[in-house]
Amino acid sequence: MDGNGRWAVQRGLARVDGHRKGADAVRETIAGAIACEVRYLTLYAFSTENWKRPRSEIEVLMSLMVRHVHTEMDALVEQNVRVTFIGDRAKLPPEVLEGMAMMEEKTSANKGLRVIVGLNYSGRSELAWTFRQLLEDAEAGRIDASQVDETALSQRLMTAGVPDPDLVIRTGGEHRISNFLLWQIAYSELYFTSVLWPDFTRQDFQDAIAAYNCRRRRFGGIDA
Ligand code: FPP
Repeated sequence: MDGNGRWAVQRGLARVDGHRKGADAVRETIAGAIACEVRYLTLYAFSTENWKRPRSEIEVLMSLMVRHVHTEMDALVEQNVRVTFIGDRAKLPPEVLEGMAMMEEKTSANKGLRVIVGLNYSGRSELAWTFRQLLEDAEAGRIDASQVDETALSQRLMTAGVPDPDLVIRTGGEHRISNFLLWQIAYSELYFTSVLWPDFTRQDFQDAIAAYNCRRRRFGGIDA
């Protein structure tokens, strides 16, 4: 969800105002995903690298997460959306952890769109964490080295049980992955748009899906 800072600076506002507007775009995107009958939507909200930002910006981002949990909960339940989180929870402030736990608990029975939010997440740290799970399982005798294959690894990722993404959308005009779901996106289609995240509408989301629908996916094979 890139481009919040630039969106604000272009308007003579503080960067954090871009994040506030960006939270509204999250609502729009969830509506777009439901309209397109998408089953899983992963939002990269805060990376392990985002701690390098000024403390004041981090504090606003964390308080936005908490506020969003409270303002959006009823609508998400109403829309049958289930929300879960990926990332290292150890460094997150207690009020954010409480909000996350509440959101996961209150939406746990919902069977519609699954929203996965990356908070203090990065693909590399997820892989390191997953390798640790594998090692612990091996030391405890739950798995043998000869059984460590792609399935065993996928089953221990933070996204275990969630299918690999079909489509990755990056807003804000940059053409890079920035440590997002590195294992899972091996065969994902990539879609880059210069629209800044706060301006991203459900129509933009639907345009990305329409572009995806025109792609031919071969997964390393050849056309049938
Ligand atoms: C990147 O834009 C955006 C972020 C680091 C924060 C994303 C967070 C939100 C949209 C807030 C709410 C999220 C949820 C799930 C409620 P940037 O600041 O790097 O933009 P720039 O590249 O223009 O500087």
